[in-house]
Formats: sequence, C-alpha cells, structure tokens
Amino acid sequence: MTLLHIVTVAEDNPVLRRKAPRVGRVDDSIRRLMDDMMETMVAAPGVGLAAPQVDVSLRVITLKVDNQLFHLANPEIIRAEGEQIAYEGCLSIPGMVGEVARAEKVVCKALNRHGKQVRIKGNGLLARAIQHEIDHLDGILFTDRLTDPSTLRRVDELGDEEGAKVEGEAVTV
Ligand code: NI
Repeated sequence: MTLLHIVTVAEDNPVLRRKAPRVGRVDDSIRRLMDDMMETMVAAPGVGLAAPQVDVSLRVITLKVDNQLFHLANPEIIRAEGEQIAYEGCLSIPGMVGEVARAEKVVCKALNRHGKQVRIKGNGLLARAIQHEIDHLDGILFTDRLTDPSTLRRVDELGDEEGAKVEGEAVTV
C-alpha cells in the first residue's frame, strides 16, 4: 500500500470543488485506491477520506469509526433523520474547525470493496463522517455548511477552555 498526498484548499486544486463521477465497476484498481486511501486516512489521522482529497475525482470514500472500517463506492444517503451540531475539521483544511449541523442518523447505500451493494446505518459520528465525505464527492466543504461563519476558528488560536471543548468535540473528516 502507498501513502497518498492529501490535497488541501491552500493548493487551489479544482478537484476539491468538482462533482466526482460514479465508479463503473469496483475492480482491482478501485480496491487499490480504497486500500491506499484507508492507509493514508489512518496515518493522517482522520476518520474519513474521500477520493477527491487524494486528487482522484471518483465517488469513493473510506471511513474508520469505532474500529469499523468502510471502503465504499458510489455512496448515497437514502434516509436522514434528526440533527446533531458539533465542531468538525477536515484533512483538506488543516488546523481549522467550525460548527456544522448534520443529520443525527443516516442510512447510506453503496458498493463495498467487493462491488456488493450494502446498506450502512449510522448515527452520531459515523453519520457525520458519511455526510461530510459524500459532500466532498459533490465538491462541498464543511466551511460551506457552518451554522455561523464566526464558528470557523484556527485550532491554535482557541483559548484553553474553548480549545479543550472544541478538541473534545471536533472530528477530522
Ligand atoms: Ni474532509
């Protein structure tokens, strides 16, 4: 496996703003991409990664939440319920966090590493990560979805009390 370069917003690479096309078939090249993304994401460290973040415009995401690994192609949210509000960060926007509202529970359909159709039910952090990564596939960043622009902060500029609160809550996806 190979560690891939993670594209950040500072690079001005349009891949982060493009709508990624669907995967036609989950073949060995897609499996290799999924494996390299998983390794890159875990090393970063982050709990979710989308293919455009490694400069590949395809609908592929990886997630690792509560020690469960997901390698998914063409993920689609087919049901969303409730609301959760928390600080979020992104491997493509290093050092920044902001408050984002997401659905509390989602059901997502996708193809797994073997090209089989699967349904994943997630709540809390898993639901948040799924929504954040699918946004990446549509060229949307968490900074487009802030509850309020004033919640976008540099992690290293937060005071002790607020820093501890945000660090406890924030998830890098
Ligand atoms: Ni992200």
